[in-house]
Amino acid sequence: MRGRIPDSFIDELLVRVDIVDVIERRVPLKKAGREWTACCPFHNERSPSFYVSPTKQFFHCFGCGAHGSAIKFLMDYERLEFPDAVEELAQSVGLKVPREGGNEAAPREDKTDLYALLDSAAQWYESELPGNTEAQAYCKKRGLDAETIKRFRIGWAPAGYDGVIKSLGGSERRMQLLNEAGMVASSEQGRKYDRFRERLMFPILDRRGRVIAFGGRVLQADQTPKYLNSPETPLFHKGRELFAMWQVKQANPSLARIVVVEGYMDVIALHQAGLPIAVATLGTATTPEHTEALFRAAPDVVFCFDGDRAGRAAAWKALESALPRLRDGRQAYFLFLPDGEDPDSLIRKEGKAGFDKRLKEATPLSEYFFGELAHEVDMGSLDGRARLAERARPHIAKLPDGAFRDLMAQELEKRSGARAILAADPATHRAVQRPVAAQQRSLVRSAIALLLAQPGLADQVERPYRFLSLDKPGVGLLAELLDQARARPGINPAMLIEHYAERPEYPALQKLMAATVVGEPEIQSIEFFDALKRMEQQATVLRREALTVKHREGTLDSAEKAELRELLAARVQPAPAD
Ligand code: UTP
Ligand code: MN
Repeated sequence: MRGRIPDSFIDELLVRVDIVDVIERRVPLKKAGREWTACCPFHNERSPSFYVSPTKQFFHCFGCGAHGSAIKFLMDYERLEFPDAVEELAQSVGLKVPREGGNEAAPREDKTDLYALLDSAAQWYESELPGNTEAQAYCKKRGLDAETIKRFRIGWAPAGYDGVIKSLGGSERRMQLLNEAGMVASSEQGRKYDRFRERLMFPILDRRGRVIAFGGRVLQADQTPKYLNSPETPLFHKGRELFAMWQVKQANPSLARIVVVEGYMDVIALHQAGLPIAVATLGTATTPEHTEALFRAAPDVVFCFDGDRAGRAAAWKALESALPRLRDGRQAYFLFLPDGEDPDSLIRKEGKAGFDKRLKEATPLSEYFFGELAHEVDMGSLDGRARLAERARPHIAKLPDGAFRDLMAQELEKRSGARAILAADPATHRAVQRPVAAQQRSLVRSAIALLLAQPGLADQVERPYRFLSLDKPGVGLLAELLDQARARPGINPAMLIEHYAERPEYPALQKLMAATVVGEPEIQSIEFFDALKRMEQQATVLRREALTVKHREGTLDSAEKAELRELLAARVQPAPAD
């Protein structure tokens, strides 16, 4: 694992970079008042609704809702993961990204050496391929053309126990690196030997096109294992990587749909047939990290599985990993293949058009979801429909807030007729009710949004926060934001919000922030203090009522008596005019 990037570094980075600069380099911007605008790079539009605010260091599109900091922009625009976006931004301003944690703090040079070594290994395997007749014949049998072999850097690991060791392990240091990279194994006597022998080699590249691992396939059906993969190494975590993501990104500057298949050869066959939109998990179930990377690459993700039992089980796993990530605008589909076929065999039979047709007819997640759940229950009975609702509820609760979740809740209601059952669950209940509730932004939410727009306002708010006694969602968060902003004078909105990047509140905060990205700071400031004042008034009223009740019960102590007297006195004074 790479170590965590310290929050303080993210702060520093967001101070050093200017979001206008970062975006301008990729999307030409026009000045519009305080902000800069452009046609949104994240959706098609003719007139600009994409705004970049230099004071807030934040972008927001009023058309599609995309928004965030410079880091978020890079993640979305260049389809990078968070750490990679940070690396890239850091590089652009000449900063080096520090990492937290013990063994993970290994000097960067080590990794550079590892990357270089793995690249040399890939080159060596590539150079071995043309000379081996069996491997050549196998490639031909599998229909791999020269361009595909080159594009995927397919190679050959020859027989013998020390081919890689001899050509790359010339020093103790290099042997150590070979070991770290997973390229050698040790016998019981401690002798080192090449891990990959007599295998067709598929390099696994990371998101920046660097070799980080290999998969190797035997040529004969009776050899095992059929595919041997590199072990987990400092560079390779199979729960995170997707085979061919690099090739997909190279082939598609923007991508509407990405397809996940099970095997190396499936990916390669699809690319060769003119569908360079396929990636594969590496002999593991789909993880949440995979799913996140997939949705970053394209809004529509098609999960492709065998139609057999194992395939169905794998599909359900994929569904579960997708649910929490199905924000509006993202869609998952499932494609089940006929018995005995895989994408490689199918595309060779049916061609690009045939497979494309299957992709277009893939089952939407909702249909697959309800179909699968209804499978085991008797939908004809009241009891069965109740069971369906019971099973579906926890899954629907995992969907992020949004129109899709509302639709799924409505669909469940329709299928199960179980509004009562649904309403019993606060999470799902909220989903059903949301369209109305979403209209009203509470005072707390307004205050948070306005504070995010101008963290400097916190300087004028003193502890203790009287609004804390309001028992409302979000008051704790508001207090925390005020403390954070006060503790760091000069913190800008993008920095403040990045502190919450790993918290469950993050998406909600981003939404709130987006709501105020364009607006007059003076007016927002007035609104902020107004919201605070109204919250404090509410808190006061509640306190007064509570004390009055105690007074009637005769249980007030002397301090409370004094407090109540003050509160009552304050009430008769007219509110100061604004
Ligand atoms: P399959 O056995 O379905 O193979 O494994 P395939 O992709 O159709 O391969 P070909 O067409 O026979 O060459 C699917 C995937 O599961 C992983 C590999 O990633 C493989 O591509 N796998 C399979 C392993 O990691 N190890 C194995 O021994 C077998
Ligand atoms: Mn196959």
